Amino acid sequence: MKCNHLTLPSAQSMQIIKSISSLRETVRHWRVSGETIAFVPTMGNLHDGHLCLVNNAKKSADRVVVSIFVNPTQFSPGEDFGAYPRTPENDTAKLEMAGVDGLFMPSVEAVYPEGSSTFVEVPGISDVLCGKFRPGHFRGVATVVCKLFNMVQPDVALFGEKDWQQLTVIRRMTEDLNMPVQIIGVPTVREPSGLAMSSRNAYMSAEETRQAAIIYQSLLSAESALQAGNRDYTAIEQTQTEKLSGEGFRVDYFAIRRANDLSEPASDERNFVILVAAKLGRARLIDNIRLNL
Ligand code: PAJ
Repeated sequence: MKCNHLTLPSAQSMQIIKSISSLRETVRHWRVSGETIAFVPTMGNLHDGHLCLVNNAKKSADRVVVSIFVNPTQFSPGEDFGAYPRTPENDTAKLEMAGVDGLFMPSVEAVYPEGSSTFVEVPGISDVLCGKFRPGHFRGVATVVCKLFNMVQPDVALFGEKDWQQLTVIRRMTEDLNMPVQIIGVPTVREPSGLAMSSRNAYMSAEETRQAAIIYQSLLSAESALQAGNRDYTAIEQTQTEKLSGEGFRVDYFAIRRANDLSEPASDERNFVILVAAKLGRARLIDNIRLNL
C-alpha cells in the first residue's frame, strides 16, 4: 500500500508534552477553539507505517496528537520490553516533519501510578491467535489504549490493519465501554518486497529480511486458494504452515478467520481475514490480508 506523507514542516511547531496535566491543558485550548482531535498511539521507533497513520489522522481532524509509550503491561515476562528499539530523537524529527501538533511521551509512573490495579479485559477475541501465544498481551493493550483515550480524549483514533487482532480488540472495547471515539483502521504499509513494515524488522539480518517476504507470499497463496473456491480452510492453513516451516520459520499460527470477529468461518463465509504469526531468528513477525468475496 502506498501512502504519501507530507514532508514539509508545518507552520506551527510541534509541542512535546511529557505530563498528563500539560496534555490536558493543550487539548483544552484546542477544544475551546472548536477544533477536533485525532490521536495515533505508538510505541515509537517510527517507520512509514506509523507515518501513514499520521497522514490519515491529519485528514480526519483539525489537530493530531501522537503518543510514544513503550507499554510494559503488554509484554509478557521474557519478551522484548527491555530490547524494544527506542529512538526518541529520530521519532521527534519525523513527527515534526509530518506536521503533528502534539507529541505525548508520558512516563511509566504517570500511566501506571503507584498502586495501580485496574485493567481492561476484552475476553474472547483477546484469547485466540496471538492471545494464545502472548497471554495478557491484549489486556495490556486494551488497558493502555483506554488510559490514553482518557488522557487525550480524541474524537478519532487511528490504528493499523497490520495488527488486525489489536484493531478488533480496540473496536470491541470502544463499543463495549461506550467511548465517544471513532476508530479508523489504516491499511498495512509494506516494503517493496511485500514485507509488512514493523519496528521489530530491525531484529532481522539482511538475509532474514529477504526471507521474511515469504510471509506475504504465503498469505497471497492462501488468498488465491479461497478465490479459486477452495473451502477446506484447515488444508489451506496446513499447506502454508508447512511451506513456511520448510523455509525455516517457526510458525505460531496460520489461520483463516471471519474478518469481523476472528471466529472460525462457515463454508459460505465471504468476508475473510487470513492471519499469520511466525518467528524468524529473533523476530516474531505478524501479518494478515483481508478478502471479500
Ligand atoms: P506500534 O507497534 O508502535 O504501532 C502503532 C500503530 O502503528 C498501530 O496501530 C499499528 O497497527 C500501526 N502500524 C504498525 N506497522 C504498520 C504498518 N506496516 N502499516 C500500517 N500501520 C502499522 O501497536 C502498538 O504500537 C501498541 O500496541 C499500541 C497500540 C501503541 C498500544 O501500546
